[in-house]
Amino acid sequence: MTTTEIIKPIYYLGAKNSFLSEIRTIIDTIKKESGPVCDLFSGSGVVGNYLSQFYPVTTVDIQEYSKVISSALFKSNKVNTDKIIRDIEELHLNEVYQEIYECIRPLCEYERSSIDGISKDNVNAIVEIVESYPLASCLSTSNKNSIFNELQKECYLRLNEKGLDSPQFTTTLRYFGGVYFSYYQAFILDMILYLSDRSNDESKDFIKAIALSSASSVVNTVGKQFAQPIRPRNKDGSIKKNLNSLIGRDRNLDTIKIAISWIHKYKLNVNSTYTSNALRMDYQEALDTYGKNFSVVYADPPYTRDHYSRFYHVLETMSLRDEPVITTSTRHGIKELSRGFYREERHQSPFCIRSLAPKAFENLFKSTSSCNTPLVLSYSPHEEGDGTHPRVVSTKNLIELASTYYPSVEVIPVEGITHNKFNKKDLMLEERNIAEIFLKCTF
Ligand SMILES: C[S@@+](CC[C@H](N)C(=O)[O-])C[C@H]1O[C@@H](n2cnc3c(N)ncnc32)[C@H](O)[C@@H]1O
Repeated sequence: MTTTEIIKPIYYLGAKNSFLSEIRTIIDTIKKESGPVCDLFSGSGVVGNYLSQFYPVTTVDIQEYSKVISSALFKSNKVNTDKIIRDIEELHLNEVYQEIYECIRPLCEYERSSIDGISKDNVNAIVEIVESYPLASCLSTSNKNSIFNELQKECYLRLNEKGLDSPQFTTTLRYFGGVYFSYYQAFILDMILYLSDRSNDESKDFIKAIALSSASSVVNTVGKQFAQPIRPRNKDGSIKKNLNSLIGRDRNLDTIKIAISWIHKYKLNVNSTYTSNALRMDYQEALDTYGKNFSVVYADPPYTRDHYSRFYHVLETMSLRDEPVITTSTRHGIKELSRGFYREERHQSPFCIRSLAPKAFENLFKSTSSCNTPLVLSYSPHEEGDGTHPRVVSTKNLIELASTYYPSVEVIPVEGITHNKFNKKDLMLEERNIAEIFLKCTF
């Protein structure tokens, strides 16, 4: 199997899909004889999924969406995909689908004509949709002169009257419709999540992951992340010229077709004879609880001040299906809901906080070494001032910390051209022009 055939379940910043065979090569040279390989900070799940062909794997990440995706990948060959495809194709026959659609039909029709308006140079309506808050806050953002806001309220109240404004039915629609997806796309994503709730245990995470992968494909943002909704205006307030490529293209994507194409991709995923599992857990807790069992830990923590939870909060809310409180910010003295509609309770990783990161890395080295477990750490060694995004902890500090707990710390550039051996006395590293390194920590 080559790395190009490996499934990439979501667009993910810093996913390690280009380095999979290199990771395996290092693991093979250092892993203990028995126990699962741990993919710590598993993110999009690509590493754990790839490794699961060769070993039993345990993935660990603090985010629920990451657990859902890894768990789906591990089960992808065991679910009845024909039935899931049929259920998705026949969603419109479902009673709940029909009830919700009846409530939001006027909104979807208005939105449809607004999207079609882009090609007729009639763009004000779609710009208003993109710039408005979603249904979840439409009652508190009253604008009597806006047909669209009136429609939002009408549809929201209809959902409310029928008890359909609750997480098991319409989380994506109410929180992210209009902002990150079209209302109709968000509704279909909710319906796929609804199917997941009603499926048997084996298929639950699989169907949920299909909704997450589909959300990642259809989301209307630059770069397919969820940190920054589309801005349809230039700085001077004028409407941008390229609204078709900026907004129309994504919002015309057919979520059902995309979901089915994802099922086919998941079905072709690696077939493993090993039993692997996915955990949602803090790294420290996972190492304290299971560290001794792991044959090796591959760790890929965040290295910059960007919290992953900000980039993927929509996937997290879709996975948890709760009613998150939305963050606010103060602009010109007025408190407003955040434009990105971020959840207030969002994981703030110590690895992304300058004052906490050194301790977090130290705890990682300390925990794995005290379990006598070898560690491979991924790191992208750009430093502050070199024109790239600053790293929270420098490479030199990282090597120093690792060397406190491991007698041998070897720095391996990913291309594998130069291998520099490091020990406690020798902490120099020629790092410019190296895109990615591994720290191989052994005894
Ligand atoms: C660089 S990404 C991992 C990318 C992953 N290797 C891949 O290929 O997709 C870092 C991950 O660390 C997770 N994370 C951050 N802090 C954590 C913590 N305290 N415990 C567990 N996971 C954490 C984030 O949720 C994020 O998914």
